[in-house]
Amino acid sequence: MKKDIKIVAVISSPNFNGNTASLVREAINGAKEEGASVTEIFLANYKLEFCKGCLICNAKGKCPINDGFEEIRKLIYEADGIILGSPTYALEYNAVMKCFFERLGTYTLYTSLLGGKYAVGISTSYKRNGAKNVAKKLTSIFKFGIFERSYISGTLGVHTMVNGAQKKVCESNDDLKKANELGRKITKDIKSNNRYTLQTVIMRAVIALYLKPIFKNKEQKERASYYSLHQRGLI
Ligand SMILES: Cc1cc2nc3c(=O)[nH]c(=O)nc-3n(C[C@H](O)[C@H](O)[C@H](O)COP(=O)(O)O)c2cc1C
Repeated sequence: MKKDIKIVAVISSPNFNGNTASLVREAINGAKEEGASVTEIFLANYKLEFCKGCLICNAKGKCPINDGFEEIRKLIYEADGIILGSPTYALEYNAVMKCFFERLGTYTLYTSLLGGKYAVGISTSYKRNGAKNVAKKLTSIFKFGIFERSYISGTLGVHTMVNGAQKKVCESNDDLKKANELGRKITKDIKSNNRYTLQTVIMRAVIALYLKPIFKNKEQKERASYYSLHQRGLI
């Protein structure tokens, strides 16, 4: 059973004490109660620039933009589990979260550096279904580990408009309880090395038959990606 469990919780809402942060922090409490050590990253406290699409990360293994993102990247790579929390904006996760995903870069995706990690998606919205969909979308990136997939421990979407009145998530014991349980679940999954075999079966077939052969040839422009994969015995 795994000990020293590290979880990173990324919050992309601009509201430090808003609805999304309330749920994520309760998930953090749940994770800590199960023995994980958790680092919260409140993205609004960072000055994140947009990805410039230079693809230098594929050759060098890091982003050339000097804005503090490498500090976040390191925490993500070292984590066993990642809790992602975004408000629902225009039916999607917000632009700050999108920027975070893009800054992880193609290097992270090509080399499956999220592989083997566990993920949880949390969102809040006004309307029914908005947040549920977005919570699921938040975990999509974890399905694209070409060589090593990640596992999704669960998602939670909470809408605040109920019968024409708006509820405060921080006062909603039911929702906080669900968030707490999700924090506990991701930690238990990490502890027990829960493989979620069905989540990965199709992707594993696509990888073996189609993607691995393509990536074997990518030694030039993508040399950092290639070496990372080679070193870890993935190609
Ligand atoms: C720019 C913007 C776009 C939004 N778009 C949606 C939406 O498409 N659907 C919805 O149900 N709520 C939408 N909302 C409401 C927020 O999702 C909701 O208030 C959420 O709980 C805010 O989270 P926070 O307190 O963590 O900031 C939007 C709010 C803003 C500011």
